[in-house]
Amino acid sequence: MKLIQTLNYAELSQQAAAQVLSRLKGNPALNLGLATGSTPTGLYQELIKDHQLNRTSYQRVNTFNLDEYIGVPKKDHHSYHYFMCEKLFEHIDIPIEQTHIPDGTAKDFGKECTRYEQFIREYGGIDLQVLGIGQNGHIGFNEPGTSFDSRTHLIDLAESTRKANSRFFASLDDVPRQAITMGIATIMDSREIFLLVSGITKAEALARLMEGEVSEEFPASVLKKHPNVTIFADKEAAAML
Ligand code: GLP
Repeated sequence: MKLIQTLNYAELSQQAAAQVLSRLKGNPALNLGLATGSTPTGLYQELIKDHQLNRTSYQRVNTFNLDEYIGVPKKDHHSYHYFMCEKLFEHIDIPIEQTHIPDGTAKDFGKECTRYEQFIREYGGIDLQVLGIGQNGHIGFNEPGTSFDSRTHLIDLAESTRKANSRFFASLDDVPRQAITMGIATIMDSREIFLLVSGITKAEALARLMEGEVSEEFPASVLKKHPNVTIFADKEAAAML
């Protein structure tokens, strides 16, 4: 794993954006894996800025999001569909049918998981996956204890994750209890991975990732087994290294 330390969040977002743009330049039909949460929003703003300034095109790009809440309609402000449209898709020239996110309102979740997994494969796999990390080491919504062999699946969210994400909802009760997430093996199939880590609340998780053992109890530790991972961490996140 390559670690890039930055002074602050703004620089982290700029550096990650520069690297995403270089991959896009090399492959204008990039299959780009995307994440939600607060951490990648600065990266998305940088990509939007670049699109406005330099007209970088996303016409041939396909995006694949990591996860979606169960039971939240796409048009609901709390869905990851809504989040991605608002934070990125509606500000760049990507055809909306080339943006792919698991359907958290599917009738049959088992079928939806299989469909999403096969779909990624049919598109030739993900070239570059952007990841954040949960305080408990989750990637996507793969909570501690998830098998490293897992494919796209339905997951019960950890209470700590629901609490962390309750800041986006009116109350803790409103936070969904389940999600569909790409599995750990799905994420590991990506040809390249960028992990973005920002802020003091992630310092312990980053230290455990860098210095701890590889274990299913700490899902992000699997990244140590991937040949092409870059971690972008700001000063606060790197405070315990
Ligand atoms: C969320 C998402 C993850 C994200 C993580 C951290 O629950 N499912 O993909 O990486 O939690 O979020 P944040 O960047 O807001 O700290």
